[in-house]
Amino acid sequence: MTLPLLTPIKHQWIKSFTKKSDQIKELIERYHSPINVHHMAPFEENYKEFSDVFNQYDLAHKIYFARKANKSIAFVKEAKRLDFGVDTASFKELSQCLEVGIPSENIALTAAVKEERLVRLAIENKVPIVIDNLDECALVQQVAEQLNKKVKVGIRIGGFLYEGKPLYSRFGFPPNEVVRMISENLGSRGKFNHLEFSGFHFHLNGYSPSQRAEAIIQTLTCVDELKSLNIPTQFIDIGGGFLINYLEDENQWNHFHEQLRKAIKGEREEVTFRNDSLGYQLIDGNLYGDAKVYPYYNDKPRAKFLKEILIYQDEYGTPVHSLLKNHNIEVRIEPGRSLLDQTGITCARVAFRKIDIAGNLLIGLEMNRTQMFSSSLDFLLDPIVLHQSSDSASEHVSGYLVGAYCLEQELILKRKIAFKQKPQIGDIVCFVNTAGYMMHFYESEAHLFDLAKNLVAVSNLDEFIVKPDEE
Ligand SMILES: Cc1ncc(COP(=O)(O)O)c(C=O)c1O
Repeated sequence: MTLPLLTPIKHQWIKSFTKKSDQIKELIERYHSPINVHHMAPFEENYKEFSDVFNQYDLAHKIYFARKANKSIAFVKEAKRLDFGVDTASFKELSQCLEVGIPSENIALTAAVKEERLVRLAIENKVPIVIDNLDECALVQQVAEQLNKKVKVGIRIGGFLYEGKPLYSRFGFPPNEVVRMISENLGSRGKFNHLEFSGFHFHLNGYSPSQRAEAIIQTLTCVDELKSLNIPTQFIDIGGGFLINYLEDENQWNHFHEQLRKAIKGEREEVTFRNDSLGYQLIDGNLYGDAKVYPYYNDKPRAKFLKEILIYQDEYGTPVHSLLKNHNIEVRIEPGRSLLDQTGITCARVAFRKIDIAGNLLIGLEMNRTQMFSSSLDFLLDPIVLHQSSDSASEHVSGYLVGAYCLEQELILKRKIAFKQKPQIGDIVCFVNTAGYMMHFYESEAHLFDLAKNLVAVSNLDEFIVKPDEE
């Protein structure tokens, strides 16, 4: 039985770079680690897609790159060059942005936990702070008093009503309490009188445009209530969570899920390692739930997703973009993954091939699974294999990519992969579109393996100059 394919979309630079197998091999040999290669061209293209949508609706806006999605400094430098904003989540993220010279008005600080030195750094540099709770208000007030400074703050809201029920969030103040919290505590008469309210912030889990639109509508109610108390709101920041479409073909995506379900029910040979259900539950022969994987194929990436939020209508038929414009609100977004679409690939060398006791072909890579790992239960894109020699006599084979940690479950991909030719020792396996979260979010140095080397490629016609990220 044939294995389902999942063909990734590839930017032109990825198509060209993955033809340079000698250069890639040499880089892997030089750094003794897998390599993460980045290219900045798609970063600007993705940004432009978002800003074109805002411009289409004539909305005041600001786009902050959520740096947590990839730690390479190259994106911060590029953001500086192109005058993008950057959303920061830690002391080091913020201090690096300041060192690179990102102007304070282009930085947001949304860290989930803010220690005193981080708050101090932000206040000293006039970086607006997004506040999550009353203890943070007190800390910011205390540091601002010491420094004798006023601080512009955004207030995070969480727990919006959607279809009659609150959307659970551990973050922010509830919408029905936030107006009282601001009016009683912030500004000249409140106990947090060094905090100047300037806007609202939220970030929702999941990928629902309508939930985000409903959250904007409810936030605008808070804006109105504050206005009636003479407290103006400058911005609403709706966070990130904009989708990427990773795959070329919707049919392949649907076919993969069909085959996965069949395999779990025992109706075909397995398509995942030891028939991993990727989150489906098989009870008494029936399948329940869904695969707990990112929607690698979807028809509303980036601009379409943003547009869907903005054209969503309130109960009186007014679209969200008109509501925002009528309220004179600047819309802010903090895309991480979606700005990184097509900006990075991860490459590793084949170390061994073997057959396990179940008869599976295992291909060992010189990398570990934390070097390409996310909260999705699998990264559902076919890798590109760069063979050192083409062997027309070699038969198609299928097998699993395994990594260097000493765990039974150390699979680089859980999916069984079809290879046109059996990979040889020294061949290179390239994973496409890994810059958003896959490279860095969970990477570890267990076994004292070196972390993957982060590199930046600059293309000159069809040639690539590749440098370490830190240079
Ligand atoms: C506050 C905040 N902003 C922005 C983002 C970026 O989200 P994404 O990379 O999905 O666009 C996150 C992700 O967790 C976040 O927590």
